[in-house]
Amino acid sequence: MDINFVGIVLRWLHILPAALIIGGTIYILRVVLPSLDGLPDDTRRQLVEAMRARWAKLFGVSVGLLLISGISNVMSISRQYDLPAYYHPLFGIKFLLALAVFYLGSMLSGRSESARRMQQNSRFWVSVTAALILAVVLISGVLRMAERSPKAEQPEPETTGQLEAAPGSQILFDATAPAA
Ligand code: HEM
Repeated sequence: MDINFVGIVLRWLHILPAALIIGGTIYILRVVLPSLDGLPDDTRRQLVEAMRARWAKLFGVSVGLLLISGISNVMSISRQYDLPAYYHPLFGIKFLLALAVFYLGSMLSGRSESARRMQQNSRFWVSVTAALILAVVLISGVLRMAERSPKAEQPEPETTGQLEAAPGSQILFDATAPAA
């Protein structure tokens, strides 16, 4: 039985951060943001700042893992399998949507002036991020189920058992010549 350990680990390193980003974003949208309503301004600001810094770390690590595992995964799949014509265009769309998710996520947990401006409308932008993640996951399901067949093996170049001399070179040793 052949077990592809590297493949399994790379899959774990993709699914776990994906689950964290999906779950975290929905939790922020449906639990955290509504719970902040009605809190005194000072308390809300302190709480948001404490959560922002912690989430930014988790989010950054997840993005790194998704990129590393995703890129090595798509390279190994393309090398090993013949894929349907729609696979790579659909993968391209997924990749662009994922980049948009990474951008919005980092702005929503960032500290720059433009990040702070976006955070003032966080309910809207977190909803957009959640919708994009949903699209990424649905597309990933289609990619996962795409029909794939192992690529045909390249035929070995035929060898005659004789050394061929490059034009202009001399054969120094001919293994097929009768011994003197
Ligand atoms: C928001 C970010 C992302 C999410 C939520 C996400 C989610 C997923 C999920 C749920 C799967 C299916 C896993 C399985 O069934 O084994 C998957 C597969 C995959 N993802 Fe991602 N992903 C994200 C970003 C990326 C990025 C940035 C790349 C590439 C750079 C990538 C490349 C891939 C590849 C190649 C597969 C395997 C597809 C196949 O089986 O043919 N993903 N992703």
